[in-house]
Amino acid sequence: MIYVKTIGRLPFRQSHNLIREYRVQTQSLKPFRMSSSTSAATAPEGDTAVAQKNYKIVQDVGNFAETEAKRPDFDQAKLIEVTKSPYPNWKYGEGVPDNGASLVQKHHEIDPYAPDRPMINNYRLLVSGIAPRPVGFLSTINSEGQKNLSPFSYFQVIDHDPPMFIVGFSSRPGRVKDTYRNLKETRECVINTVSENMIEAVNATAIDAPYGVSEWEVSGLHEAPSTTVKPSRVKESVFNIEGKVIDIKEFTDHQAPGMSLAATVLIKATRFWVKEGTADADYSHIDLDKLRPIGQLGGVSYGRVTSTFERPRSKWDGEVLKNELLAKLDAANPNK
Ligand SMILES: Cc1cc2nc3c(=O)[nH]c(=O)nc-3n(C[C@H](O)[C@H](O)[C@H](O)COP(=O)(O)O)c2cc1C
Repeated sequence: MIYVKTIGRLPFRQSHNLIREYRVQTQSLKPFRMSSSTSAATAPEGDTAVAQKNYKIVQDVGNFAETEAKRPDFDQAKLIEVTKSPYPNWKYGEGVPDNGASLVQKHHEIDPYAPDRPMINNYRLLVSGIAPRPVGFLSTINSEGQKNLSPFSYFQVIDHDPPMFIVGFSSRPGRVKDTYRNLKETRECVINTVSENMIEAVNATAIDAPYGVSEWEVSGLHEAPSTTVKPSRVKESVFNIEGKVIDIKEFTDHQAPGMSLAATVLIKATRFWVKEGTADADYSHIDLDKLRPIGQLGGVSYGRVTSTFERPRSKWDGEVLKNELLAKLDAANPNK
């Protein structure tokens, strides 16, 4: 993923041309070779310089302060409203009951690997189309004990038994993400949740600080001790998860010249911490009003939860007795 650290919106044509230029230039370079260990944190200098030069999407594109000044203030006191669901009377087999409105437009097919498909378009498409994404705010340390704190939205909880998480680290010019390097070195982290009131501080930690510089200082967030791992927890977060690395998948076959390795890391929780007063008595449910989660959207946008609705889940055995369609499907089941 190329993370757009720009403020404001990069004109589409401009970003398109920049990336096309990047691809043309890097494709003409000699193939990039990793050192004997794929743990090499840094790409060869010459290639990196070219990649960096062409990684121009990371640039200032406007006066964001001016743009934001025209927007309404963030409503800190906004209550989370609970409404009905979109189609409360929905029935089995009904699809989207909108009289076919959502079926009118055709889909446009895209090959993400097409030679004329700029990688930035895949990035922009994915982060705008797979949204909102939770932000995993990772605290790590390297083998010398140097601290790191950074946000990742290629992130998700993927199971509860055992409690497992996944984080995706994108390729960038030069060195791998420091968090990834630390996870590989020490195999420990704390995953911290991000609430609305933390977002400016969290966003600031995404700065490309030199290796060894602690984003704890950059953000001004506070450390709390962990029990099962060395990295600290973020005191401001409602929920902290201490965790250990279970597996790493490096995408060595997809590395561009001068760019770092992309990788995905699987993390298993070793301890939970929930802020007192934010959950029920047995710490099995966190109150949404207290968590106030944010989600990352496309571009440089974030979303908040201001409205929810509920849909109970059903069981086949009960429903099949009450519903004609399910009864028909049940009767026709060839595996019965
Ligand atoms: C909300 C948010 C989500 C991000 N998600 C990711 C992600 O999933 N993967 C990634 O490689 N970078 C992501 N980034 C960019 C990294 O945070 C950024 O590259 C950071 O400098 C990495 O820090 P590190 O090198 O100290 O690990 C994200 C940035 C923000 C602000």
